[in-house]
Amino acid sequence: MMRFAFLLLVISTDGVTSKKVCSYLDVLDYLNLTKDTSAFKLTRPVLDYTDPTRVELDIFLYAILALKWKHEGISWDPAEFCGITQIAIPRDMLWRPDLFIFEMTQKDDSPLNLYILVSSDGTVYSEEDMKVVSTCKMDVHKFPFDTQRCNISVASAIHHVDEMRLLPCSNSSRATQFSREVLKTQGEWEFMQLSVSSFNITYNNRQWENLVYTFTMRRRPLLHVINFLLPVLFFLCLDLASFFIADHRGEKLGFKVTVLLAISVLLLILNDILPSMSNKTPLIATYCIVIFAMMLLSLLETILVTHLMEKDSVAQEKVGPADDWQHKKEKMKTQDGTTEDKKQTSCVCICQVSAAEKQHELLPMAEEDNSRIQSGDSQVLLLILEELKELQKTVDLRLSCRLEGGKSSLWAARINKAFLIFYVTTVSLFLPLIFIAWHT
Ligand SMILES: *[C@@H]1O[C@H](CO)[C@@H](O)[C@H](O)[C@H]1NC(C)=O
Ligand SMILES: *[C@@H]1O[C@H](CO)[C@@H](O)[C@H](O)[C@H]1NC(C)=O
Repeated sequence: MMRFAFLLLVISTDGVTSKKVCSYLDVLDYLNLTKDTSAFKLTRPVLDYTDPTRVELDIFLYAILALKWKHEGISWDPAEFCGITQIAIPRDMLWRPDLFIFEMTQKDDSPLNLYILVSSDGTVYSEEDMKVVSTCKMDVHKFPFDTQRCNISVASAIHHVDEMRLLPCSNSSRATQFSREVLKTQGEWEFMQLSVSSFNITYNNRQWENLVYTFTMRRRPLLHVINFLLPVLFFLCLDLASFFIADHRGEKLGFKVTVLLAISVLLLILNDILPSMSNKTPLIATYCIVIFAMMLLSLLETILVTHLMEKDSVAQEKVGPADDWQHKKEKMKTQDGTTEDKKQTSCVCICQVSAAEKQHELLPMAEEDNSRIQSGDSQVLLLILEELKELQKTVDLRLSCRLEGGKSSLWAARINKAFLIFYVTTVSLFLPLIFIAWHT
C-alpha cells in the first residue's frame, strides 16, 4: 500500500516539472470570479439588454430539472488553460433563471445540488433534483382502468418572453425514452409518455413563455380487480346459483341475505379506494349499484315467493289431515275397485301422480289379498303392513304436492322462473356492456 502511494507521488511530481500547470482557480481568476462575484449574479447575464437569455430545460421523471443557458461575459480560451473546458462552481456564484412550477403545492425539500457547471463558451449547466408534489386533475370515471395526465408547467416568475426564452432541450420522444430508462419503480402507476409543449401567457400586455410537460400514466388495475371486481362477480354468481337451492324452510332467504351482506362489506372497501373527486359517476360505482340492485331484487323476489308458498301451505293445512284419513277409509272399503282414486281430489297434482301409481300397485295387491285371505292372522297383519306403507306413500306425496301445487304455489313457480330469466338476461347484458365501456 505504501509503495504504491509513493510511486504515484513520483509520477505526479514528474508531471509538474515537465508541463505547464493550470488550476481551476486560474480560470476563475481570469474571469474575475474570485474577487467579487456580485457582478455575475446581480442581473441577467447579457451584454446587450435587448438580447433574450435562452434557457433550455429538460424534465425527467423523478423531476430532474436539467437547465442550460448561456452566461454572456464568461468565456475563456481552453488552450490558454491547458485545455480546461469546464469548471464546477458553487451554484450561488452566478445568476440563475428564476423558474418555478405552477402546480407545485409543497415546498421542495430535496437536497440541493451544490455546484453548477460552466463551460469555456459561457454555457452554464445546472441540474436540480426536485420532488414535485403537484396538483393534478384526475378523472376517475374508468377507475381501476384509468389513464391520468398530469401537467407540470414551468415559467419564469418575472422575465417575460423578450427577456427570457424557455426552450425544451429534448423533444417529447427523447424525454419519454429517457424517463423510461430512469424509471425503475413498480408502483401502482405505469409511466406511458412524457410530452412537451409550449405556449405564451399574456398578462399586462407582456408575454411569458410557458413550458408544459405532460405526464401520461396508466393505473395498474390488477390489485383492484383481484381485491374488488372479482369478489363482487363471485357473489353475483353465488346469488345466481341460489336460485337452484330447493327451498322449504327459508334457507334460500338466509343465503341471499348473507350474500347481500358480503357485498355491502365490499362496498365499504370501495369507499376507501375510490378517489372522491369526480363529476362523472365512476363506472365502478355503476357496476356496484347495478349488481347490488339485482341482488336486492332477487332477495325481494325470494321473499315474495316464500310468502306465496307459505300462504298456500297454510290453506292446505286446513283441509289436510282429516281429508287424508277420509280417503284412506274410502279406499279400504273399495279394495278391489279401480275408480276410487279419483275421489281424492284435494290436491291437484297428487291426482295424476298417485292415481297412476296406485292403479299399478293396487291391482296385484288385490289379487294377492284374494288368494291369501284365508291363511290366518299373519296374512291380516301383512295386509295391514301393506296398507300402512300405502298410506305413508300417499302422505309423502301429498306433502310434496302441498309445496308444489296450489294456486299461489303455481304463481310462485312462475314468478321464480320469469325472474330467473330476467336476472340472467340483465346480468349477461350488463357485464359485457360495462366491460366494453371500461376498455374504450
Ligand atoms: C477582470 O478585471 C480586470 C480588472 O478590473 C479587467 O482588466 C479584466 O478585463 C477582467 N477580466 C475579464 C475576463 O473580464
Ligand atoms: C411566444 O412568443 C415568442 C416571442 O414572441 C414566439 O417566438 C413564440 O413562438 C411564442 N410561442 C408560442 C407558443 O406562441
